[in-house]
Amino acid sequence: SFMNEISEFRVLESQIKDKLQLDHVIIVAGNSDSQASVKQELGKASVKFLHSVLTSNQTIAVTGGTTMAEVANQMKPIEHAMNCTFLPARGGLGERVENQANTICAQMAKKANGNYRMLYVPDPLSEETYHSIIEEPAIKDILEMIHDTKIVLHSIGDAYTMAKRRKASEQVLHTLKRCNAVSEAFGYYLNEKGEVVYKARTVGMQLEELEHAEYVVAVAGGSSKAEAIQSYFKQGKSNVLITDEAAANKLLKGT
Ligand code: BG6
Repeated sequence: SFMNEISEFRVLESQIKDKLQLDHVIIVAGNSDSQASVKQELGKASVKFLHSVLTSNQTIAVTGGTTMAEVANQMKPIEHAMNCTFLPARGGLGERVENQANTICAQMAKKANGNYRMLYVPDPLSEETYHSIIEEPAIKDILEMIHDTKIVLHSIGDAYTMAKRRKASEQVLHTLKRCNAVSEAFGYYLNEKGEVVYKARTVGMQLEELEHAEYVVAVAGGSSKAEAIQSYFKQGKSNVLITDEAAANKLLKGT
């Protein structure tokens, strides 16, 4: 099976596993910052991992981003697990359509021969809208499915890069700077110690909910993401990391 395959990075994988206290670490060759093919390999490795843990009638929550879009790109039919449903973990978060969780999860479902659900919510939301929208039956239903999901696939971004890409206001950028935000995942911005310093108010998976999941798989590579990966894992909410050689080497050096 997948788990028994000998990886050329076995030593590096076990060092990262120990350092970040994870259950599984998978490393692909190269640096995804400089080669598009490395991101494709991250995608392939993620699909392989998903296939190895998936059983019938499960739900899989996925986030957005270019890394997740590549995972969707590499998705293959899942023959051994029937009737699986892909769910967007969170709303759009200001991403371009092709990088939104909704789009990615529909594409994954299509390629995996699975089902999908959508989260039709604008974001960011005002406080009042947020509280009324989460009470809408159709939204409540999918939020419950997200809450119960046992498999989560997500990426990790550099805090600034993500805030800028999502066209965050000057005020938000200022807050992130003042609080020394390093990483971003699920719309949460974290500092070097892994503390949440800012959170986008959107409907969907909350960081605390990850504790119910069996496999929380972070897919993030490129040496530019090493600090972000380190910061995110201080929170300790994910138990699997799929990364590349460049990020892994930088992580081990303590960044
Ligand atoms: C976002 C995820 O869509 O993608 C974030 O919600 C993540 O959690 C980000 O940080 C990473 O983006 P990319 O393009 O670097 O894969």
